Amino acid sequence: MRLDKYLSEAGIGSRSEVKKIISKGHVTINDLLVKDSKINILESDVIKVLGNIVTYEKFVYYMLNKPKGVVSASKDEVNQTTRQLITDYKKDDLFNVGRLDKDTEGILLLTNDGLLSHQLLSPKYHIEKTYHVEFRGDFLKTYCSSFETGIILNDGTVCKPAKISLINDHQALLTISEGKYHQVKRMFGSLNMGVTGLKRVSFGPLKLDSSLASGEYRKLTPSEIQKLRMLF
Ligand code: URA
Repeated sequence: MRLDKYLSEAGIGSRSEVKKIISKGHVTINDLLVKDSKINILESDVIKVLGNIVTYEKFVYYMLNKPKGVVSASKDEVNQTTRQLITDYKKDDLFNVGRLDKDTEGILLLTNDGLLSHQLLSPKYHIEKTYHVEFRGDFLKTYCSSFETGIILNDGTVCKPAKISLINDHQALLTISEGKYHQVKRMFGSLNMGVTGLKRVSFGPLKLDSSLASGEYRKLTPSEIQKLRMLF
């Protein structure tokens, strides 16, 4: 691969930006200064920009603790987006794995691995997602079995069986294995309860990392990526 293409794909900058960086003498290959962008590099070569080794990963995987008030999108004219929160990744091929509502917080994955993302979202695989739900209204005793057999939304849509565990009169953990639009809010709404707070605490085998403050993110570990891949 050409040096300028490699650096650009590694997220150092656009093709023209990296050409400038190279011509300024900021780049070395195996500790030898190079100024030619067109030079071809080998997999075994060690490339440094300003003395820092550049590693090129084809796929990247992030876990974000999405804050309220941020939209699950790459671009938005008005609101801050989840993509904007991942500040150390510069390329434009990073996407959310599904979406959370603007007022929902919690675990959201972002990746440029389109196949894995597609599989995680596919209704074929029933990936479980658990939400911590705060709600108003009365949770009647019979509702547990309604969730467990399959809630019928107000528009007649039948949901798959879900798992619910009540924490107290106004909080519950709900696990669903599908991703209909506003699903949790609509499930509670169909039983005359209003969701007042919603946080996703797990996505498939991954739990929200409790060390991530709201708005913080980190890369998935190799074993977490492996756990996701093992689902398919
Ligand atoms: N269900 C909802 O209602 N909203 C979300 O953001 C996620 C699940």
